[in-house]
Amino acid sequence: MDMDFIPYGKQWIDDDDIDEVVNVLKSDWVTTGPKIKEFEDALCSYIGCRHCVAVNSGTSALDIAVQSLDLPKGSEIITTPFTFVATSNAILYNGLKPVFADICSDTFNIDPISIREKITKDTRAIIYVDYAGQPCDIKAIKDIADEFDLFLIEDACHALGAEYNGRKVGNFADMTVFSFHPVKHITTGEGGAVVTNNRELYDKMLLLRSHGIDKNAHERYGPNASWAYDMKYLGRNYRITDFQAALGISQLKKIDKFIGRRQEIADKYNEAFADVPYITPQSTVSSMKNAWHLYTILLDSGIYRNDFFAKMREKNIGVNLHYIPIYKFTYYKNNFKLNDDEYPVTEDIFNRIITLPLFPLMRDEDVLSVIDATVASIKELSNSGR
Ligand SMILES: Cc1ncc(COP(=O)(O)O)c(C=O)c1O
Repeated sequence: MDMDFIPYGKQWIDDDDIDEVVNVLKSDWVTTGPKIKEFEDALCSYIGCRHCVAVNSGTSALDIAVQSLDLPKGSEIITTPFTFVATSNAILYNGLKPVFADICSDTFNIDPISIREKITKDTRAIIYVDYAGQPCDIKAIKDIADEFDLFLIEDACHALGAEYNGRKVGNFADMTVFSFHPVKHITTGEGGAVVTNNRELYDKMLLLRSHGIDKNAHERYGPNASWAYDMKYLGRNYRITDFQAALGISQLKKIDKFIGRRQEIADKYNEAFADVPYITPQSTVSSMKNAWHLYTILLDSGIYRNDFFAKMREKNIGVNLHYIPIYKFTYYKNNFKLNDDEYPVTEDIFNRIITLPLFPLMRDEDVLSVIDATVASIKELSNSGR
């Protein structure tokens, strides 16, 4: 098979995006200038929410979201182990304790029943992740939060543009976090944002983004500047640059096209795999709009995931694995009492899952190559008698 390598994800940057970046580079403000607020406003109007703080990564966004809650020492935050480490690292950065709940066997999102079982007198918040771009069972999670008076942070790094009950993700939790890494729906190189409808949290996160200082650079260095400023919180420098924001604004104009193409590719995969033995695609809930960050399949018993992974890589298909459960990592094992057996669903899914390439710039022939390679690999392995 003569074929170029197809990665699992990739950005789509056109000349119009590049022109916007160049314009900013030639302007007076390359950082802390007017493009930041313009990008934040564009995100708010796309999502239909009130406030947005753009930062330099999704990880930073999660960090200031947790920090803004100002939770007492010893607080526990319940989250999913089936996510990128950044989700629970944000809890650690703030000196708090992550507690992992198990996931649902069909959507791979956090299981509300398991959340209930993990609540203790120290639980203060839940961080739920819309895995692969499909919203969680938000109603069930909100009910738990209301009952136990918990804060909610939605890690929607996979889910910009996704909808729950006809409303865009970004309007349900106290704060919702997005990432603009190149494999995500839109990119700013590195970048992220927190959105909220809560003015108090917004005001605080604006300061946390920039050292906890209560004046921005424009006020400090502009023509009417005074020398005075205060530092109210222990903030960081998580600022995003104006040329990144300009890229974000330009990319956001194309998000419907990007997500539409993701949906088209996912439909092609679903159709192609419907009758292929040993494969179960991730199930989708029809009442939700999936933003399709990832397309994953489960391999049924009889096909070993690692063998399938190797076969696909031999065929130049950039399959990947999302995710190694967080409780398996050395740092977490060394610092917390974590037992793999407590998460039977996560364990089962982890052993069987694989991510196929999905990005809007994929051509139809790339999609066909992935389908052909998948079917061929299943055939080879199911005949191998291992
Ligand atoms: C679920 C999830 N949360 C957080 C992040 C962190 O985002 P970033 O890479 O922009 O820091 C990622 C990035 O891959 C992610 O997938």
